[in-house]
Amino acid sequence: MEEKGCSREEVLALLAGYRSRDVPHSRIFSSMCTVPHEIAVAAHALFVSTNLGDPGLYPGTAEIERRLIADLGDLLHGTGIGGYATSGGTESNIQAIRIAKKLHPTEKPNIVVPASAHFSFDKTRDILGVETRAAPYKEGSYTVDTDAMAELIDKNTVAVLAVAGTTEYGVVDDVPAAAKLARENDIWCHVDAAFGGLVIPFLKNSAPFDFAVDGVSSITLDPHKMGMSTIPCGTLLLRNPEHMKLLSVDSPYLTMKTSFTLTGTRPGADVAGAYAVMKYLGREGFRDIVAGCLENTRRLVSGMEAFGYKTVLPPVMNLAAFHPAEIPEGWKVSRTRAGHLRFVMMPHVTRDVVEAFLEDVSRLQ
Ligand SMILES: Cc1ncc(COP(=O)(O)O)c(C=O)c1O
Repeated sequence: MEEKGCSREEVLALLAGYRSRDVPHSRIFSSMCTVPHEIAVAAHALFVSTNLGDPGLYPGTAEIERRLIADLGDLLHGTGIGGYATSGGTESNIQAIRIAKKLHPTEKPNIVVPASAHFSFDKTRDILGVETRAAPYKEGSYTVDTDAMAELIDKNTVAVLAVAGTTEYGVVDDVPAAAKLARENDIWCHVDAAFGGLVIPFLKNSAPFDFAVDGVSSITLDPHKMGMSTIPCGTLLLRNPEHMKLLSVDSPYLTMKTSFTLTGTRPGADVAGAYAVMKYLGREGFRDIVAGCLENTRRLVSGMEAFGYKTVLPPVMNLAAFHPAEIPEGWKVSRTRAGHLRFVMMPHVTRDVVEAFLEDVSRLQ
């Protein structure tokens, strides 16, 4: 830090210089985050100084968090759902497994996860000291083989995971089968719907993945992905709100006697942002946004196929994967572990963006 400060204009010009080096969203196909909705940005500004780590000081903001959780729980067919707003899918996944581990104390706990599990489960393994056992994909699909999961479960298994909207291929595991395994073994069933949680409820034909499925104990759903909130906003949703108590530690010098979150100080601004988007759009608005993303996904697929690119599987949601091939310079497209091209068709990937991309692809021919 310099001895003397700069003017406001100088600071903002300096920051603008750095910001201009970032990749514009109109070139990004690789991200599950997007440009926040305008109403989320306005809400964020209103709540920018709030700290949900000390909720007794911000009862209004804390009420918004409760309403956000209740509304999402309702959307996912739950009643009286508990949970809280996290910093994202990673925290939600860690905390869900932390509960499962506490419910089933054993010396060598393990969790059984699909091969598609997000790398946050590697962090979960390191932090919580649980072994992660990955079950392979079902032959010819990118969803988990639940028979293989069953074989990996033993007396030290504390949880099974299913993914609803996988990070790499956007497919939905057989959640009822995973939940059945959990019921039969009396263990936790966590559904990672970080991405799919705000897509699947708005699809015309969707697979069961939420609290309507008997045996689903918890769900990760990230408003900072398809919820178009400001970053960072995830949620952990619990079928039984009492399970939150298993996460509690004493928090002597704050307004609340206990703390159950992973982070201490945590923002209320993004929570207000997420809630604002849901109030503003309603289910109807979300349905339209998801329909638009799907329409753009179909256009991308038909355009790419016309140039000879081949999809790995027909898109289930707004994520398309293609067999390895050259893509034009200047576009951010990620690759799956198997090397497939992965396009996440977020709200910022508009029809114009798709057409501009296809135009560049045509120049490669
Ligand atoms: C299925 C899934 N779970 C968890 C995460 C982690 O979310 P975050 O980056 O918000 O921690 C992601 C991120 O893409 C994801 O796709």
